[in-house]
Amino acid sequence: MCEQGPKSADILAWYDRNARDLPWRIPPHHGQAGVRPDPYHIWLSEVMLQQTTVAAVERYFRLFTSRWPDIHALADAPEAEVMGAWAGLGYYARARNLLKCARVVSRDLGGVFPRDVAGLQALPGIGPYTAGAIAAIAFDRPAVVVDANVERVMARVYAVETPLPECKTTLRRYAEGLTPANRAGDYGQAVMDLGATVCGQKPDCPQCPWRRDCRAAAAGIAADLPRNAPKPPKPERNGIVYLLHRSDGKVLVETRPAKGLLGGMLGFPGSDWVEGQAVGTPPVAADWQLLPQTVRHTFTHFHLTLQVYQAQIGIGANPAVGRFEAPAPQDMPTVMRKVWALGG
Ligand code: ADE
Repeated sequence: MCEQGPKSADILAWYDRNARDLPWRIPPHHGQAGVRPDPYHIWLSEVMLQQTTVAAVERYFRLFTSRWPDIHALADAPEAEVMGAWAGLGYYARARNLLKCARVVSRDLGGVFPRDVAGLQALPGIGPYTAGAIAAIAFDRPAVVVDANVERVMARVYAVETPLPECKTTLRRYAEGLTPANRAGDYGQAVMDLGATVCGQKPDCPQCPWRRDCRAAAAGIAADLPRNAPKPPKPERNGIVYLLHRSDGKVLVETRPAKGLLGGMLGFPGSDWVEGQAVGTPPVAADWQLLPQTVRHTFTHFHLTLQVYQAQIGIGANPAVGRFEAPAPQDMPTVMRKVWALGG
């Protein structure tokens, strides 16, 4: 008798025909022929893919690997350059940890990544998801890969109606149960690709290799799963930013403190970001003009409205904070690029 339920073999066969072409990925037929991906590429891509889409990551991945082709090159890069290259990807603690991890692997481990989940998870910036993904994809270990795409697929295939995040452990258990001993890396990538393409927010069930095994599809509720517990509304915060143009074309910038939001990133000076009224001290006495528009930006835990003051100043000015540089908005986080777009 044939056993019921989804089988890894079916999704692996689908992956062999439909794998997305991604710059860090070894196509499945090459993998089958014994070609292994570069662990540096897999680590770098998986850190970038934490909380960020494949579409956004591809350009950054190419930029990093052409500028720093291996772990030693990245380990030797100055922190400011790595932070600048990461600008726009968000969640900047990832970039600081990326560099810390590169330095540990390059200098303490001779450039060789650990091959097992525990060894990988001991490195900076590598949590359970990323450790599982690297162990499976780079080293073909039978490790379990669970990201939001995998959770969506598991919730549907097994018709899990308990909302997220409460059902996370259940979904992980289902994912563990399906992970094969062979080709675990391809299997994990297959489920992620399925979740990103066929089994997205609007499922395209006729295209799915698991359509006959999917309990949610059978019950007609695939599009309703996974359910999400209602999220509390994000608080509103306010801030003031000072955009100071010097007569030689340079602009006042500062490196933000290493700890805290946008830590270590380049930005324009300003007030703290607070609920209620922001209180700012201009970096220097000048004829400050409040710009008519504000900047809006949403972070993970709050919405931000920034008032932007702008002034021009002569070459001899000596502000209390920051330094004058040629404007480099491409090296700044998105919220600071928005400030620049208003007043630069
Ligand atoms: N999302 C995160 N990692 C991925 C990978 N290796 N393949 C496809 N999607 C992903």
